[in-house]
Amino acid sequence: MKILLTGVTGQVGGALVEPLSQIGQVICADRATVDLASPDSIRQTMRRIRPTLVINPAAYTAVDRAESETELALQINGIAPGVLAEECAQLGARLVHFSTDYVFDGSKPTPYVESDPPAPSSAYGRSKLAGEQAITGSSCRHLIFRTSWVYSLRGANFLRTMFRLAGEREELRVVDDQRGAPTTAQAIALACTALLPAWLADPRTDRDGIYHLSCGGSTTWCGFAGRIVAHLDQIAKALDQPCPATRPRVTPILTEDYPTPAKRPHNSVLDNSKLLRSFEVNLANWEEAFSQLLTTH
Ligand SMILES: NC(=O)c1ccc[n+]([C@@H]2O[C@H](COP(=O)([O-])OP(=O)(O)OC[C@H]3O[C@@H](n4cnc5c(N)ncnc54)[C@H](OP(=O)(O)O)[C@@H]3O)[C@@H](O)[C@H]2O)c1
Repeated sequence: MKILLTGVTGQVGGALVEPLSQIGQVICADRATVDLASPDSIRQTMRRIRPTLVINPAAYTAVDRAESETELALQINGIAPGVLAEECAQLGARLVHFSTDYVFDGSKPTPYVESDPPAPSSAYGRSKLAGEQAITGSSCRHLIFRTSWVYSLRGANFLRTMFRLAGEREELRVVDDQRGAPTTAQAIALACTALLPAWLADPRTDRDGIYHLSCGGSTTWCGFAGRIVAHLDQIAKALDQPCPATRPRVTPILTEDYPTPAKRPHNSVLDNSKLLRSFEVNLANWEEAFSQLLTTH
């Protein structure tokens, strides 16, 4: 099986390389191989490589910048997935794509299920929703995984930002009224790879579609920061960096005290039970996945 994997310099793409190589030949497509901002680049690469499976974690992920680079975000997150789906359909290849909890507006008080109506409140969320719709509206065999609050030891993410700030500040003021599930790229990659053989062997389309795929449990950004600050020494070891000399105090604040260009949902906890029902795959609780990342890096 020839697997074309995008976003290999990113968190999820990077974490997928090794596990995917257990199930097929992985062709790592960075931005130079396939530029998702260019439909021509996508078509040319797809026709040259002729993959049997395309896995697309690449995305425009700068949530705040997307408010001013709306067109580019839409091109990469909204248009490109549709072009990939069209090309996959022509080749008879399947597509695995990633989406976000930010397709929801956060007004639901309980975890979101796949059938809840999306209502993104940011340009990023709207661009990702457009990508989902382009794929589900195509005739391509597909899976779309909505995940949340992704972090790893590489790339730009909350864990690394808090670790850096812990070395610079005595106090970290962190939003405490946005709830979600921090999810490691590692957990996403392992879950996704675990269910692929069963899906690829299934000739029926019943299990195609959208799935929520995030770590279990939930917290706020402030709760997550508290956990990070409590484990600075382990994080330093995992990142191979010096540990901050002192532990900053973590102070909860409200969203309105930390204005950002993009509006974020107050609740974006995802209900993962469809994934468990359909594929018998369940991700660890977020605290457990956090510990696993620090011990198994
Ligand atoms: N990060 C989160 O908190 C989060 C939360 C929910 C859902 N998600 C979704 O999960 C998926 C994986 O996210 P992630 O955190 O792994 O993202 P990430 O670390 O920001 O990586 C994004 C990847 O996309 C690539 N990319 C960006 N623009 C491109 C273009 N024009 N052509 C080709 N490649 C391009 C980047 O390449 P360069 O290195 O060249 O820029 C990078 O490899 C995405 O679909 C994202 O929307 C993420």
